[in-house]
Amino acid sequence: MTAQLLDGRALAGRIEESLRAEVETFAGMFRRRPRLVVVLVGDMAASGSYVKSKAAAAERVGIDAEVIRVPAETDTAALVALVRGIARDAHGPADGILVQLPLPKHVDTVAVLDAVPPDRDVDGFHPENAGLLSQGRPRFIPCTAAGVQRMLIDADVPTAGRHAVIVGRSDIVGKPLALLLASKSPTIGGLRGQGGDATVTLCHSRSENLADHTRRADILVAAVGRPNLITADMVKPGAVVIDVGINRIEQDGKSRLVGDVDFEAVREVAGWISPVPGGVGPLTVVMLLANTLLAAELRGK
Ligand code: GUN
Repeated sequence: MTAQLLDGRALAGRIEESLRAEVETFAGMFRRRPRLVVVLVGDMAASGSYVKSKAAAAERVGIDAEVIRVPAETDTAALVALVRGIARDAHGPADGILVQLPLPKHVDTVAVLDAVPPDRDVDGFHPENAGLLSQGRPRFIPCTAAGVQRMLIDADVPTAGRHAVIVGRSDIVGKPLALLLASKSPTIGGLRGQGGDATVTLCHSRSENLADHTRRADILVAAVGRPNLITADMVKPGAVVIDVGINRIEQDGKSRLVGDVDFEAVREVAGWISPVPGGVGPLTVVMLLANTLLAAELRGK
């Protein structure tokens, strides 16, 4: 059996279309567009290209985006002051503020992220937003975790009572995704929603016998950043495999992007699989746009 493809690019395109209409409604009501301000520190090629695709997607749906670039040598105090200035609208109204990660080693990342006010924290990294998510009353959900959940819902993958195994315990993906998939799905019109009520195992670099866990997964999410970490023998036949990894490797003298999953082998075992590129990545970007619109709506005016 060859797995069905979870086409993140196509889904992101459909979500963009509905966001564009919602942004127009917002602009009609408030006589302004939602606005996102992105801080990019240094000149790491990968970060630069992610920020470019975020700004381009914002433009496509009618959200204004400004990218503020500062040199890699900028210290923690200067970055905190910059973020506080953006939060005072010193660079124009900022509904959403995003500091692209990773920051250079000499910078205290937590101090910089904590300077983003929680009501403009469209990354969902502030402790207040992480706390709200952990209590089952989410406001801004970290974009990649929200994108993975949306991908499962869109493909009609049942999650209630199923075993989801997440490999990687980062604050950005693994932890929030574990909370989302284990959360009580809302009941709307007597129907239990999708995307939650799973039994979740969160694996990490100290997990013993990783394959014993992954082989029990109905839904397997790899979010580590190691090419070919997940091989075919680690996957239960028919499982849904979602690859969050984005790794640049050199192959046959060419540079290319691969995920954490050995795609060609695992697609022969899995029931569903997300590719890299074109899987979770585009969904991360549209979830950021959705969070920016939400921030603008919460702010009003
Ligand atoms: N770097 C990699 N992923 C992310 C993300 O979701 N948000 C930010 N701010 N930086 C990242």
